[in-house]
Amino acid sequence: MRAAIIEGDGIGKEVIPEAVAILDYFNETYDWGIEKVPVEVGLGKWEKTGSAITDDDISLLKTCNLILFGAITTVNDPSYKSVLLRIRKELDLYANVRPILPISGIYKLLKIKDHKEENVNIVIVRENTEGLYSGVEEIGAEKSMTTRVITKRASERIAAFASNLASARKNKLLVVHKSNVLKSDKLFLDTCRQTAESRGVDVSDKLVDIFAYDLIMNPEKYDVVVTTNLFGDILSDLGAVLLGSIGLAPSANIGDNQAFFEPVHGSAPDIAGKGIANPIAAVLSLKMMFDYMGKTREACLVSRAVTAAVADKIVTPDLGGKYSTKEVGDFILSKVRQLD
Ligand code: NAI
Ligand code: MG
Repeated sequence: MRAAIIEGDGIGKEVIPEAVAILDYFNETYDWGIEKVPVEVGLGKWEKTGSAITDDDISLLKTCNLILFGAITTVNDPSYKSVLLRIRKELDLYANVRPILPISGIYKLLKIKDHKEENVNIVIVRENTEGLYSGVEEIGAEKSMTTRVITKRASERIAAFASNLASARKNKLLVVHKSNVLKSDKLFLDTCRQTAESRGVDVSDKLVDIFAYDLIMNPEKYDVVVTTNLFGDILSDLGAVLLGSIGLAPSANIGDNQAFFEPVHGSAPDIAGKGIANPIAAVLSLKMMFDYMGKTREACLVSRAVTAAVADKIVTPDLGGKYSTKEVGDFILSKVRQLD
């Protein structure tokens, strides 16, 4: 099995090594036979070669079953095309899975009293290949347009994925859309409803604006949520409010043959190089990779080690702690070893 490791830029270079140390521990201890393939993409590559990701990089990534990714900095240049969008599209990683599952004890640590953390357990499933991120754009000085593409095929595919996930949980699926204004969302909504109903999943729907409000006001009402690309992008950052820090939000991009795991956050230039980025989003992205690999026991050990870090207040400044990225990473790894 081959796992591409893309640290990327900024804090990506700081948080990914902490996740890789845990991967190395299991890989070496249990002879998993994972071959790590370092791949350089992003700002560094752009500065050296004028291209943030090359065709060769894409070909190399296609040879890897798994990809662990940090974050990259967007280059401010009209010719720049998003690296992540290109990877997601070319590898056809159509389901972006973003759990909103607070770490036990985090609300006490952060003194958030409004919700019961044990009642918050949501997964946002974001369609990852089209919508407003279709890449179909016409850019002019007076008028610029981005085409929002919704197809029946992609809507069916993401609805089937979300319905499978729902049936393994509470068998409830919420479709979030804006079909009262965007006619393209009527196709998305109708297709999701039909697909979920045909699979025996209890389906309901909500407009995106009121859902944004309700996600924060009444998060305990929600379980599996399926939505289009841009809405999913925004709602998952909003949902990270319920986690206590964007530095705690992991994600997975799943395709039929490959999967790509990354923290939701970006390269955080404001704190890059200071050694204070929270590594937990990257570590929990690795945990999602273990779940995907069927390594349920190891995934559970990683969760327990992260919970122990929060309980012992071994946390970075975003959570009010004084520990460095490396110290938190080292603590989690030592806890994993101890629990194993
Ligand atoms: P960001 O997520 O990098 O940072 C937003 C805020 O959250 C900053 O104040 C940052 O310090 C904080 N933060 C983020 N991750 C953290 C962590 N692990 N621990 C502690 N604090 C953390 O978003 P921003 O500032 O909008 O974007 C910065 C760059 O990253 C841009 O070039 C953007 O395009 C890119 N980006 C890349 C993504 C990716 O590669 N997946 C995703 C989002 C943004
Ligand atoms: Mg985003």
